Amino acid sequence: MPGLYSKFSEEVSFPRGLIIWNYFDHEHVVGTHFEHYHQIRILAEESNWCLSQRSATLPFMPIKMWATQFCYLKSDKWMRSFHFGPFGLLLEQDFHFEDVGSQGCRVTVESHMNVPRILRWLQPFFHKLMRRWFYSVWAEDTEMRERRLKVWQLGFRDFVGLNYVNNKTAGPARPDVDRPYPIELPVPKITEIARGGVGRPFKNSRKLGYGLSELPE
Ligand SMILES: [Fe+2]
Repeated sequence: MPGLYSKFSEEVSFPRGLIIWNYFDHEHVVGTHFEHYHQIRILAEESNWCLSQRSATLPFMPIKMWATQFCYLKSDKWMRSFHFGPFGLLLEQDFHFEDVGSQGCRVTVESHMNVPRILRWLQPFFHKLMRRWFYSVWAEDTEMRERRLKVWQLGFRDFVGLNYVNNKTAGPARPDVDRPYPIELPVPKITEIARGGVGRPFKNSRKLGYGLSELPE
């Protein structure tokens, strides 16, 4: 394949719908991934696509860069993403989501960037950068996905919460591990992300609410 290329694949015990929700939940980008992202604003969004502008600091490149991203669901198992960066650079990505059993998913991400032939020597660096990016963001997302799945299996609904908590009644005897996770886009918002945009809420922290440094003495 011409240009720069990388491919990574991981299997997880989260349903495909939850993984797709995670990729289209742009509000968490400046929170969960605050070490990488600075600002994000959604310019336009519909039920299977989103156009956003974001600033981030990439691995090995300690400067803040802006990019415009367009991502869309080509099918319920395939997301395409285009990052328009500085100097006319365009990063194209394909995310494939395969079901593994009834509640698992394999995520495969192929990244591609066309560059002039004279810059093809950058391939090892590109692979290293994409690898670092994929796995660091992946690790940060995992905790969030775990929490989401846990409350989902207890009956959680956006902007409603858990009925048994709201009603102060007994909870379910056991989580509904087979509760289907539908793909419902766009993801509901609680911030100004689709208007003026949002910035990261902190610059230094362990994961919000989960860091040892935030535990009482
Ligand atoms: Fe994420």
